[in-house]
Amino acid sequence: MDTVVDALPGGVELDYPQLLGTAMAAARREAGRGQVAGYIPALAAADPEGFGMAVATVEGEVFGVGDWERPFSLQSISKLFSLALVLAAGGSGSSLWTGVGREPSGTPFNSLVQLETEHGVPRNPFINAGALVVTDRLQTLTGDAAAHVLDFLRTEAGNPAIAIDADVAASEAEHGHRNAALAHFIASHGNLENPVDDVLREYVAHCSIAASCRDLALAGRFLARHGLRSDGTRMLERSEAKRINAVMLTCGTYDAAGEFAFRVGLPAKSGVGGGVLAVLPGRAAISAWSPALDRAGNSVAAVAALDAFTSASGLSVF
Ligand code: DON
Repeated sequence: MDTVVDALPGGVELDYPQLLGTAMAAARREAGRGQVAGYIPALAAADPEGFGMAVATVEGEVFGVGDWERPFSLQSISKLFSLALVLAAGGSGSSLWTGVGREPSGTPFNSLVQLETEHGVPRNPFINAGALVVTDRLQTLTGDAAAHVLDFLRTEAGNPAIAIDADVAASEAEHGHRNAALAHFIASHGNLENPVDDVLREYVAHCSIAASCRDLALAGRFLARHGLRSDGTRMLERSEAKRINAVMLTCGTYDAAGEFAFRVGLPAKSGVGGGVLAVLPGRAAISAWSPALDRAGNSVAAVAALDAFTSASGLSVF
């Protein structure tokens, strides 16, 4: 793999393979910390020591370290792609932003409490309640929400092997009482356009997509490219890409978004499969994965790796 040396302001030199090595060393120091997600039983078998990380630059180079080509369950990271696809399909002019807010929730990702006081309008698109509304709108726009998320990932990553893990989907569906409660509550306020069962099925299906750090970094590049897809076509207006990055920064890691911004300084979206996708606007998408999670549901080692990456390189949005 070639070494890319990139000049930063102030004459600092950037060497992605070396930075990934630094990040992996930081991740290894977290060994033994955190817990693999157990509330979806099919995820509980993941290896807590697993770690991978990848960088995909806006120019098209990809670098990786550790298990960077090993698929894992995307879970909530898929919410980012469903949101982007709704906006790309013209959803910003539809009922999306009346049905979901753009403020951090300060509550756990699967909390029911706020939804009652806020009349069935979820705080943001990344908590489970908000993602259910986004999936509902994508279902209205496409008739096939999860298939559109899957197709987008395959195309951007150039990997037709990316797939929905049927075992994970069945496991989540069987234990998805909280999401069912959220969806019914939202529907009771008239904030779903499709039947609850359809929305839950599509939501669980896109959360159950398995992809690698390599796939994820490539698929996330459109946010670093201000809305341009891999083939150069425009998916989102520049201002829409900006808005998604902003919601990632403020809401993408749930009630730990402040701590994440403090440590890493990048827009990012996490998932309980242990993945995190972060964006360096104008430069690269960075993904990291390790299954053991902190109390907020974010990967302990992936966050440590991203912290080390931005601290060592000086690259962040701040
Ligand atoms: O609905 C759920 O609970 C999962 N499919 C996704 C949750 C998740 O990944 C939260 N992220 N940290």
